[in-house]
Amino acid sequence: MTQPPPSPPARRTVLLPDEATTARLAQRLASALAPGDLMALRGDLGAGKTALSRALIRAVTEEEAEVPSPTFTLVQTYETDIGPVWHFDLYRLSGPDEVTELGWDEARAEAVLLVEWPDRLGPLLPADRLDITMTFTGPDSRQADLIGHGMWEDRLRTFDLSGLEQP
Ligand SMILES: Nc1ncnc2c1ncn2[C@@H]1O[C@H](COP(=O)(O)OP(=O)(O)OP(=O)(O)O)[C@@H](O)[C@H]1O
Ligand SMILES: [Mg+2]
Repeated sequence: MTQPPPSPPARRTVLLPDEATTARLAQRLASALAPGDLMALRGDLGAGKTALSRALIRAVTEEEAEVPSPTFTLVQTYETDIGPVWHFDLYRLSGPDEVTELGWDEARAEAVLLVEWPDRLGPLLPADRLDITMTFTGPDSRQADLIGHGMWEDRLRTFDLSGLEQP
């Protein structure tokens, strides 16, 4: 007996012609996230991983909130309307051991995690996650490709991207 082919992973694309649209995507994501959720942010240097994260954190704190890039601290934490948010930039991570020292287990247990350079996690990268890859399409325009893994497959399929997604 042949098995039916596996269903393709949930995948959706949003065009971001300017940073204001990136902020609108961030607001939509913020309204869907809860503690335990992890967003893995991929894309080249300057693609907009921090810009998306900053807009998301401002959507659940204050419009003018200070949201520095965790480039050197590796993590910044926030108390927000959707619970604790831990924003990681793992580009400079020496290895999975270091992320444990940063409080990874505590973060996974209680927080929403936004993770830039998630592949630095190696085997700690959770199976349930929303991957967002940002790519350059122009000086101020980007494309965001969203892929749902594990429990995020169904969540992404039903996620409200009206007004953002191309028909
Ligand atoms: N549509 C857009 N969406 C997001 N950022 C944009 C957009 N247009 C222009 N930008 C600019 O692109 C830059 C994105 O930088 P950002 O620090 O967010 O990149 P990054 O992906 O986090 O890079 P790194 O890997 O160095 O952390 C910012 O200067 C931002 O203002
Ligand atoms: Mg960044």
